[in-house]
Amino acid sequence: MFSSILNIIYLIASVTFIMGLKMLSRPESARKGNLIAAGGMSFAIFGTVFLYEASNGQHLGNLPWMFAALIIGGVLGAVSSRKVKMTQMPEMVSLFNGMGGACAMLISLIEFNHIAGSEIALGHFIAIVLGLVIGSISFAGSIIAYLKLSGKQKDISFKGQHIFNLVLFFIILVGAVLTYLVEPAMAPTFFYITFGLAILYGVFFVLPIGGADMPVVISLLNSLTGVAAACGGFLYNNKAMLTGGILVGAAGTLLTVLMCKAMNRSLLNVIIGNWGGSNAAGGSTQEGGSYKEVSTSDAAMLMSYAKKVVIVPGYGLAVAQAQHTCHELEKILTDKGVEVSYAIHPVAGRMPGHMNVLLAEADVDYEKLEEMEDANSNFKTTDVVLILGANDVVNPAAKNDPTSPIYGMPILEVEDAKNVIVNKRSMKPGYAGIENALFYQPKTSMLFGDAKKVLQDLCAEVKAT
Ligand code: TAP
Repeated sequence: MFSSILNIIYLIASVTFIMGLKMLSRPESARKGNLIAAGGMSFAIFGTVFLYEASNGQHLGNLPWMFAALIIGGVLGAVSSRKVKMTQMPEMVSLFNGMGGACAMLISLIEFNHIAGSEIALGHFIAIVLGLVIGSISFAGSIIAYLKLSGKQKDISFKGQHIFNLVLFFIILVGAVLTYLVEPAMAPTFFYITFGLAILYGVFFVLPIGGADMPVVISLLNSLTGVAAACGGFLYNNKAMLTGGILVGAAGTLLTVLMCKAMNRSLLNVIIGNWGGSNAAGGSTQEGGSYKEVSTSDAAMLMSYAKKVVIVPGYGLAVAQAQHTCHELEKILTDKGVEVSYAIHPVAGRMPGHMNVLLAEADVDYEKLEEMEDANSNFKTTDVVLILGANDVVNPAAKNDPTSPIYGMPILEVEDAKNVIVNKRSMKPGYAGIENALFYQPKTSMLFGDAKKVLQDLCAEVKAT
């Protein structure tokens, strides 16, 4: 009786996960979708706690422990997600993903102890060992990713690291197979060696990956966590866990592929390419040359008398939290009869959809956002492009410098416009650590300063013209 009700609860939870995922694809429904899926997950958790029946008819014990863990985890999650800044989101995603990997890893460790010393069915064993290996790699890799993104850990690579990683991975596979084949008394030794090596692999897998490639790796680790959770679903014959894990695994894989496509790189190249790290080499890092500065009043004048202005938001706009002031400028220009739109690069900012979320937060009309392909075909008829804290995503080296590490990455082709105004605080490079030749072109003018302050001044000047 209880188990039938529980199965219905799992089915409902699975439907909410699918609905939530679908709703996440549109900014207007994303928040609701998240809540619906979270509601489904809570339903499945409480259903399991109160209705789960073991084969001997016993219900779950340890309720005080479970509720203590639920309360501590819930409070930590709620407080940290309220406190986190938008620009720190990738770090948080990484940390939370690591927790998912750790859960799958702990499930496998505990379940192995339950069966250690006895004959193990192959299917059961595969689910345990896959959960252990994938969960451990995902846990260790995500923690390193978190430390790197928060600036607490530098990229570390040594000669032959990729070969070392491949050999390590091969030994892990051998260890897993031997755990199954050896005498039951020896199995724990091989099991724990495999566990230790999987943790080590997670660390060495992420350590050398360049800064600008980290989001792709986080997305990949996220899909691994999904697969590890699905293994737990197999182990416990838990449909909600299985569906949730498969959805995370599939969505993470799709996102990884899409991000690689947006940067025009293969996944293999991301993993072993050492591209775009803080120590990125190659490209026109010694550009130098002279650049032109523009005053706020001249920039305001140029935009006020333009027919069409395109705003290119980037990471700097998010850092300055200037999205509301940016929207304000858009409204003032529109009131003056200027046609204003936003050009959104798929990897602008520090996470997929970063700029869309940022601008939606400031109530910018979604219709005004142009995707890269559309924006690129419209730049030719644009009078002024205003770049706000963006750098790599408008770097022409991606198009015309085969020695540049970002060569081949699609960019916003802002040079096609009549005038380009770039707002940033200095001539320092962007995330990929490479110089930008755009800043030295004759049609480009630099407008230095913090994006928020510059936008406030621009608003005042445009109003006055
Ligand atoms: P970036 O290339 O990182 O450039 C941002 C620029 O903003 C910097 O050059 C910085 O110059 C400026 N800036 C910082 N604070 C500012 C402030 N308060 N006011 C004004 N300007 C400020 O950004 P992007 O063009 O958006 O490119 C994104 C990069 O991040 C790409 O390399 C991409 O691959 C990578 N990435 C993307 C993602 C995803 S999935 N979206 C995730 C991680 C990394 P100053 O210091 O001179 O001000």
